[in-house]
Amino acid sequence: MTSTERQLQLEFHFSNTIEVDEAPSRAEGVAIDTRFPTEEANLLAERETFNKHLFRPNTYLHKWWARRSGTTFRYILKQLSDTSSGHDYYAIGGLQGKIILDPMIGGGTTIHEAIRLGASVIGYDIDPIPVLQAKATLTYIPLKEKTAIFKKFFERLEKILNPFFTTTCPRCNSNAETQFILYGLRKKCQCGEALFVDSLQLREEPDGSGIELCPYTGLPYQGTPPVVADQARRLIYDKNIRKCPTCGEVFQELRDELYVNRYAPLVIVGHCTQHKQFFKKPSEADIQHIEQARIYSAANICLPKNDLTVSGGPKSDDLLHKGISNYADLFTHRQLIYLAASKDILDTFEEKHQRWLGMIVSTSLEFNCLLCGYKGAGKRRPGAIRHVFSHHAYSFPYTALENNPVFSGNTSGTIGLLFRDRIRAASLWAEKPVERKHVHGTWTKVSLTGEHDWGIQTQSFDEIQTQAPTFLVMQQDSSHLPLPAASVDHVVTDPPYYDSVQYSDLAQFFRVWLRWFLPGEGNWDYSVANSAVAETTQNGAKYQQILAAIWSECHRVLKKPSGRLIFTFHHWRPEAWGHLTLSLKKAKFRLVTSYTIQSENPISVHIRQLQALKHDSILVLAPSESLSADNRFCLPEMKSTQDSFMFCNLCATILGYCLDSDLSEHEIIEFWHKSLGTES
Ligand SMILES: C[S@@+](CC[C@H](N)C(=O)[O-])C[C@H]1O[C@@H](n2cnc3c(N)ncnc32)[C@H](O)[C@@H]1O
Repeated sequence: MTSTERQLQLEFHFSNTIEVDEAPSRAEGVAIDTRFPTEEANLLAERETFNKHLFRPNTYLHKWWARRSGTTFRYILKQLSDTSSGHDYYAIGGLQGKIILDPMIGGGTTIHEAIRLGASVIGYDIDPIPVLQAKATLTYIPLKEKTAIFKKFFERLEKILNPFFTTTCPRCNSNAETQFILYGLRKKCQCGEALFVDSLQLREEPDGSGIELCPYTGLPYQGTPPVVADQARRLIYDKNIRKCPTCGEVFQELRDELYVNRYAPLVIVGHCTQHKQFFKKPSEADIQHIEQARIYSAANICLPKNDLTVSGGPKSDDLLHKGISNYADLFTHRQLIYLAASKDILDTFEEKHQRWLGMIVSTSLEFNCLLCGYKGAGKRRPGAIRHVFSHHAYSFPYTALENNPVFSGNTSGTIGLLFRDRIRAASLWAEKPVERKHVHGTWTKVSLTGEHDWGIQTQSFDEIQTQAPTFLVMQQDSSHLPLPAASVDHVVTDPPYYDSVQYSDLAQFFRVWLRWFLPGEGNWDYSVANSAVAETTQNGAKYQQILAAIWSECHRVLKKPSGRLIFTFHHWRPEAWGHLTLSLKKAKFRLVTSYTIQSENPISVHIRQLQALKHDSILVLAPSESLSADNRFCLPEMKSTQDSFMFCNLCATILGYCLDSDLSEHEIIEFWHKSLGTES
């Protein structure tokens, strides 16, 4: 059959070869080939996507992007059990004696879920942060010990930082704690400088009243605005004002200033034991504290400046375009004191404690940096801080927010709260994991006594045992896996979704500090070019080539014929699927079946604004030689759909058809463009 004839066939009517839950078995019986409780799994996934870290507290020690749902991966892994009782989601274990590999661990969802089910797990990632996180969260350290260490750490930190974060209550003038400080962006025109904010509204009360910022005096006020002189010059503008109403000139940012100096303090938000939270204009003493911090950090802090250089990248270029060439420029002097003090105190602890403490300080930077914005005005009382990576990219606020990392109250990103949520709650959860269950219309919690979210660490494959859950996690470019052939039972993973998240590039923001805190814990200068991600829509070939190498290694290490490669994927664009298809074809995999599951929380910012897909295709593949040659996917019917579920379903079928076909590389890319209704 010529390619044109084959092409014509493409116009065929589409018969949905895969009944979502009932695909006929195609190979040596693995339950997931024909069985996946999609409805149940979706019910949990829909709930989990709203608050993933509450469902899996022990997997959220450090910021990582695009984590998958733990409940979905538990469902996937449960279908790899050899016993039907092992398939029951709420039964403990089910994978004893199995070795599960994740060559791209990221936030660690697979290895955490698999080790809880009794499997031994092998996990690799090209970036040291996922590896460090996995080691810190899968290593058992009694909570009592961690709490004692943290108490020491916090007391020393507080002693150093408190003097710089003390303020006074505007009502009773007694000493008070600074919760955070709001800054305005400085701009200039012929008339001089003015400050710009995202909004003059600081707080909206449910009754419609609120706290506003007076643009002439800079005073926060509730109700009647302060009296200002007639000719008073306006000092503060809303971000939408581009031209000076007096001189008519377009306001200019102060680009030749260091980023951190492009902002000026505007409002202190503090907490008085008697009068609770207050908003006030910084007093002389408050400004003094900022100046003292500058003097202190100049005299006492020696930062590894060269190691903090911003190197270009798909997202880091946004920093360079803003004239930010060093990561230290993103932090106020008080924040740099926080970093340096943390480093000094960390160095006094044992390595096993330095690891989780270092990760806590590192992840806190997403809330303790002058890239943070303010979103606390709304009457729904959302958390005050818009953290650095609320979008998978850098954004530059008008109203910047400097958090007090040792504030004693419940502000996100304070070191105390991070310990409570990401160490204390996580350790208690790892001891006795809790699942949710929908029973007669109500949600209940089910403790899985006997399961633990930790294991015994090993340094090499030879030490992997199967009688007790052990884990081997290493920083590795998985294009070369240090594992023997036919050594793992299954590969369960989730690769980068083409160009969706620039992991290696964005993670620089944390890596540069972790290299300082924990120099021996990773190869901090690995080549990000080896990351399986498309930096731009043009370099899909690189993405394909690296993934093909990783899948080929997975093919080599999988036990056959029962070994399965299972991963989640979604993308709107045909070239993403085209390159993924070619990477799997080159690695000699074929699709056994697929399931479609909700994976994203529809209201989260980076989903809602981008009309992004809300579902994942769960792709179940097997080495081609493990499948009988005659069972093939039928040609799918081409109908364009904007429905996320249908789209993921369709893409999985097209993938199955392409992997079974003998279409050429060019024809496969063409086929994807034609199938998804776009020109190649
Ligand atoms: C989507 S993430 C995994 C997310 C993870 N499944 C989770 O739920 O948290 C993909 C990971 O692949 C890693 N990666 C990319 N290229 C790699 C390579 N060549 N070798 C190993 N890991 C790689 C990235 O660093 C990233 O952490």
